[in-house]
Amino acid sequence: MARKPMMAANWKMNKTVREAQDYTAAILPRVEDSDGVDVAVFVPFTCLGEVARMTEDSSVIAGAQNFYYEDSGSFTGEVSVPMLRDIGIGAVIVGHSERREIFGEDDEMVARKTARALEAGLLPVVCVGETKEERDSDGMWDKISGQIKRVMEEIDEPAGDEIVFAYEPIWAIGTGDTATPEDAQDATSQIRGLLRDLRDDEFADSVRILYGGSMKPENVEELIAQEDIDGGLVGGASLEAESFIKLIDATQEDNWPVEDQ
Ligand code: PGA
Repeated sequence: MARKPMMAANWKMNKTVREAQDYTAAILPRVEDSDGVDVAVFVPFTCLGEVARMTEDSSVIAGAQNFYYEDSGSFTGEVSVPMLRDIGIGAVIVGHSERREIFGEDDEMVARKTARALEAGLLPVVCVGETKEERDSDGMWDKISGQIKRVMEEIDEPAGDEIVFAYEPIWAIGTGDTATPEDAQDATSQIRGLLRDLRDDEFADSVRILYGGSMKPENVEELIAQEDIDGGLVGGASLEAESFIKLIDATQEDNWPVEDQ
């Protein structure tokens, strides 16, 4: 089964509204012909309204980097799914390692947020990945499989195209230290195998698994050429529009059979 690749920019805590406007204006005309790849831009809360407005009539998905699973109430500083829907947001990152490690989000919270996003029709991009210590001490698969199992327990049975996973080894994020294509393929294929065991072939064959961690124009081709890597979630190399466009173009040229869509 062919999976349509996705290239996603994660701006993290970067860009003013003005900078967001310039960036979005730069990528919009360039992605018009990118039918073979889904393009998403995950931007800070302050830029969401503007990026959602600018991308409204395009194929670019405006996404949020965070939200809370309750719909409203006394949750100072939080933003809910209905609030995101209200301004036209189509996707959310869930369980990014920076949220897990710096802001203390645990597997339970990530699972509940994923379920809430799915219920509301937002596309969750669920991040999983190991630290260097976990990798070196053979704890990598315990960590990743535990993260995935908790999410799969909490959610109903979404179709494979309603949820995306991102394998992001923590030691590769923002470090310039990319996983080798073989290591990234190994992890993503194990993740797909686990999803096959937990659900079924149809789900496992259609769900997209992205790679994240120092993906850049110089290494994108060899990463997305791997059988189980369906695109990227990119921080640093997505901050400049030209660099992100290169990543989109490289993904577009991957083996996705555009004519079969
Ligand atoms: P990076 O970040 O591309 O800067 O390593 C990836 C991510 O955290 O999603």
